[in-house]
Amino acid sequence: MGRVIGRLPEPSASASFAVMGGKVGEKTSRGQAFRTGRDVPPAPMEPMRIAKAMAHAGLCSRRDAEKWIEAGRVSVNGEMLKTPAHVVSAADIITVDGEPLPQAQTARLWRYNKPKGLVTSHKDPEGRPTVFANLPEGLPRVVSVGRLDINTEGLLLLTTDGALARHLELPSTGWVRRYRVRAHGHVSQEALDRLKKGITIEGVRYGPVEARVERQQASNVWLMIGLREGKNREVKRIAEHLGLTVNRLIRVSFGPFALGELTAGAIEEVKRKVLVEQLGMTLSRELGLKR
Ligand code: URA
Repeated sequence: MGRVIGRLPEPSASASFAVMGGKVGEKTSRGQAFRTGRDVPPAPMEPMRIAKAMAHAGLCSRRDAEKWIEAGRVSVNGEMLKTPAHVVSAADIITVDGEPLPQAQTARLWRYNKPKGLVTSHKDPEGRPTVFANLPEGLPRVVSVGRLDINTEGLLLLTTDGALARHLELPSTGWVRRYRVRAHGHVSQEALDRLKKGITIEGVRYGPVEARVERQQASNVWLMIGLREGKNREVKRIAEHLGLTVNRLIRVSFGPFALGELTAGAIEEVKRKVLVEQLGMTLSRELGLKR
């Protein structure tokens, strides 16, 4: 891995969760001010497919956009679209449910320490508390880069740009997600080493897994696990396969971004320069981060 943004926590899993909280517009303990969406110049819109333009505007994911188009909720220049196979540019007037599409802002990214007990969803059918209802006031509308289960803690990346979220969550982006795991049971390093080749569990293929025992603590073992995929409940499933029951799961890094010293519920914006460095020029240009 290259440069890591946000220092990795120390091996004592909870020791590093002790520094900052923060509201948009306030200075964090590291001296970085959160900015509102207003002081970021809008990104110029190059011709692109309608679903991508909607995702760039931060309204929804591309997949949702396609569903909304099929449901007849999206119009271009006054005509309701019947198919997502439609290219739009800055000259087009796009409306969703009759409301103009918000102007695409330059993509922004935040590191957020998701506390346990929050669902990674904008609305939960069971009425449980959500990540998005518990973010600091004044933050622009954001979507998450993938999801963490309700009881998983730690690093969740949030962005104003649905297309960026989709890109970062794709396994082909190849970013390692690292988890510190406390599980009930015992496992040998040899058993963990066998995961390096990848593993199939109940018909689901998991690619290469890097795993090591950090320490055994009475009946619990602490592990560090790294994967490059983002499949549903992947860490818990792999642990169960090894005869372990996960009772604490903390994501400590996602690609070059680390949880660092963010306290539970705290959020910190990634500087644009750093984001450009990590995304590379082509994607940064496409997202309007770099002219
Ligand atoms: N693996 C899981 O089992 N749960 C998560 O939330 C993330 C990875």
